[in-house]
Amino acid sequence: MNVQLLDRSFDACFSENVDVLVVMYGLEFQAGKDPLSQLVQDAIRKGDFEVKPGKALQLYGVPGVKARRVVVCSAMTLHRSDLSPAVGAVMALLRDAPVKRMLWHSVDGWDDASLYSLATMVSDHTYVYTTTLSSPKPRVLQTLIFSEQGSKPAHKEAIARAQACIAGIELAKEWANRPSNHATPSMLANVARKLAKHASIQCEVLGPKEVTKLGMGAFLSVAKGAVEPLRFIVLRYNGGPAKQAPVVLIGKGITFDTGGISLKPGAGMDEMKYDMGGAASVLGTFEALAQLKPKLNVVGLIPATENMPDGQATKPGDVVTSMSGQTIEILNTDAEGRLVLCDAMTYAERFKPRAVVDIATLTGACVIALGHVRSGLYANDEPLGKALMDAGETSGDLCWRMPLDEAYAEGLKTKFADVANVAGRPAGSITAAKFLQRFGREYAWAHLDIAGTAWRSGSAKGATGRPVGLLVHYLLQEQLPDLPAPRKAARTSTSTGTNKRTTARRRA
Ligand code: BES
Ligand code: MN
Ligand code: ZN
Repeated sequence: MNVQLLDRSFDACFSENVDVLVVMYGLEFQAGKDPLSQLVQDAIRKGDFEVKPGKALQLYGVPGVKARRVVVCSAMTLHRSDLSPAVGAVMALLRDAPVKRMLWHSVDGWDDASLYSLATMVSDHTYVYTTTLSSPKPRVLQTLIFSEQGSKPAHKEAIARAQACIAGIELAKEWANRPSNHATPSMLANVARKLAKHASIQCEVLGPKEVTKLGMGAFLSVAKGAVEPLRFIVLRYNGGPAKQAPVVLIGKGITFDTGGISLKPGAGMDEMKYDMGGAASVLGTFEALAQLKPKLNVVGLIPATENMPDGQATKPGDVVTSMSGQTIEILNTDAEGRLVLCDAMTYAERFKPRAVVDIATLTGACVIALGHVRSGLYANDEPLGKALMDAGETSGDLCWRMPLDEAYAEGLKTKFADVANVAGRPAGSITAAKFLQRFGREYAWAHLDIAGTAWRSGSAKGATGRPVGLLVHYLLQEQLPDLPAPRKAARTSTSTGTNKRTTARRRA
């Protein structure tokens, strides 16, 4: 979907060549002299339209308006909480309508946040998955245009950001939605190779041989039951000076999670095709980076494999040695995400990163804790935690800070290895994060548990493309001149398991 910003007055919108003109009113409606105003005023008087969030009315063949359809709607403020019901109401009226070009005008004008919110919301409503249908109905809406007289540079930037994020979100949705036989580790590697056609992106793909040589015993233990060969994908976006420390993004890439020998129950297991949502969000973020070309360096790491039961598969109680040298007792083969991530986290050390963020559909417990609204956010570094939280708020791709008290690691203790891969049922999202934290002591690290936010179930079943919006906004914030080289700080544990940074970074 394309997004554009047109320099037009309200009256000039009437002669635009589009399929639908959407007019959004604010708190109150004031009738102008145009024929549309008269119709809207009439509709309000007769009770057919109210200037209230979530209300919309469609008009056809309005005299003096070139667009066949006009939809009027209302949003009290330009905040996304008001925009969301407005978009919902408008898109409900236009469902299945042959609308290729949509022009959206706000009577109260725009701000950059509202342009970004609206564009991403309209993209979300109009996206359709078609890849595995024999005769698909393709997406109808191609171009979304916003109008504004004397468009401001900040607004043009917001549109560019929205355009890039939409491309990234839609790429993430596409690959997360694909069933596992259409999104194997090798296929994900090919997506990464294709991204590397952009001049600013490079890609390297490791197979079982290289991964064995690296000593990634934890990652390998998950892949043992699978026939589909594993892939370890390394993406690099170089937009900053070569010497500048990169941000590393690690995406969990379990292309199907059966649970392994600790087999999952059958009902709803199909949804475990989404267990590579973290990987998809890294691929999507790289697509957005290629379009936005920010001045910074980013590395993307994707450990990709299926988690399958088999005669060769890892068994509960097996002990493996991770790349870090730490041994792990695998008490539950269904806690596989942390096993593939921990080796990628050790691999990340070689980049001497400024920060490492892993993104994973990690625990059902996170869905219980935060539902489908916010992703779980963990960080061993205050500025990093705050930057991600802020990026969530500005993008509307929300997350919430979770604790890392050392007491939560108690259940991971075992006699048979340095650490067990599961603790008890309580605080399952936190104990998973405590496991990961052990492998991220060398750098500022954050973890996003997206188990509740990467896809929707039920009739609206489908990938959300989250948290591409959050990640892109975070990375754009990181794009600051003259960042001091990263310094290794001894990470001691405070009550929340985080440590106050002593190194001067970012805006500080
Ligand atoms: N991929 C799942 C997590 C998941 C489950 C995400 C349901 C979304 C919905 C993960 O690999 C897993 O199976 N986690 C286990 C961990 C447990 C064995 C400690 C879980 O959450 O049940
Ligand atoms: Mn699992
Ligand atoms: Zn999983």
